[in-house]
Amino acid sequence: MAEAKRRAARLKPKVGARKAPERRILVLSGPNLDRLGRREPAIYGATTLAEVHRTLKSGARERGASVDCRQSNHEGVLIDWIGAAGDDGFSGLLFNPGAFTHTSYALYDAVRGSGLPTIELHLSNPAAREAFRHRSTIAPACVGTIAGFGAASYTLALAAMLDHLENTALVGPPAGR
Ligand code: DQA
Repeated sequence: MAEAKRRAARLKPKVGARKAPERRILVLSGPNLDRLGRREPAIYGATTLAEVHRTLKSGARERGASVDCRQSNHEGVLIDWIGAAGDDGFSGLLFNPGAFTHTSYALYDAVRGSGLPTIELHLSNPAAREAFRHRSTIAPACVGTIAGFGAASYTLALAAMLDHLENTALVGPPAGR
């Protein structure tokens, strides 16, 4: 009972309390995703990456957060962005690594090393496609994976990340991270 009261007091915003800083989420897309909308639309859909980014920006704003959306075809650039993300003040990472998903130990290391909660995401469902797409080298460094919902995979991943950050702020980060 006493613990329940203490918990309620913790959750109640205090009068004059400082507002929590805005959560900033880094959204990275890897190789060939710059061609979204024109690239194999039967698999990846007709929505462009610019449209995905616009939707994410307004969705984040509605939840009092912000996103910084970037795309690169170059593994090293993605590694640099992930490595700097913690120092740059990001709270979480949404990552569609494209085909690097299936090949890159360097990106796995970068995600682990960043210490940031990361959600791997895909427009298509790699598990239902060619065998080489069934394995992700990056997934073991992530909180979870969202795949198969087209452009909505990005917005679902954003909602999942913001929920995850709210929940871990209440109970602390999971052990082992
Ligand atoms: C992808 C799936 C990958 O297997 C593929 O190489 C991509 C896109 C997706 O979003 O569905 O480039 O990450």
